[in-house]
Amino acid sequence: MDTVLVLHGPNLNMLGKREPEVYGRQTLEDINNALHALSKDLGVSVSCYQSNHEGDLVDAIQAAVDKYQGLLINPGAYTHTSVAIRDAIAAVALPTVEVHLSNIHKREAFRHHSYIAPVAIGQICGFGVNSYDLGLRALVSYLRS
Ligand code: DQA
Repeated sequence: MDTVLVLHGPNLNMLGKREPEVYGRQTLEDINNALHALSKDLGVSVSCYQSNHEGDLVDAIQAAVDKYQGLLINPGAYTHTSVAIRDAIAAVALPTVEVHLSNIHKREAFRHHSYIAPVAIGQICGFGVNSYDLGLRALVSYLRS
């Protein structure tokens, strides 16, 4: 069975309380529970991990080799700053889907650029918690194609 690593970057542990008008009222636990339920329907298994620390996320990506077949990542603010996370994804060469709750392209200019997008299969943003649902479906369909 394919196994997918779901990584959540900084401040996503605050979902539910954090700027609900932008990110909605669902918590990270709600998102992880929904992903676990969806994974059963899709016949894959998922592990979810959140960190506020760039190096932790790099370590998690490096450790994913040989253990996971794909990566679903919301890098949070590191999307717009982290060459290190981008390089880690390129190094492990795991099929990766980038997701965001908000539509980063219609927000502040500094959110328009993603360091992650060029090493991802694709990016899904703007659908709230459904971005994760769509992202997992897209990743699984890619892994099976
Ligand atoms: C985010 C968008 C980022 O710009 C922001 O820094 C986040 C959340 C999103 O899911 O919409 O932390 O990745």
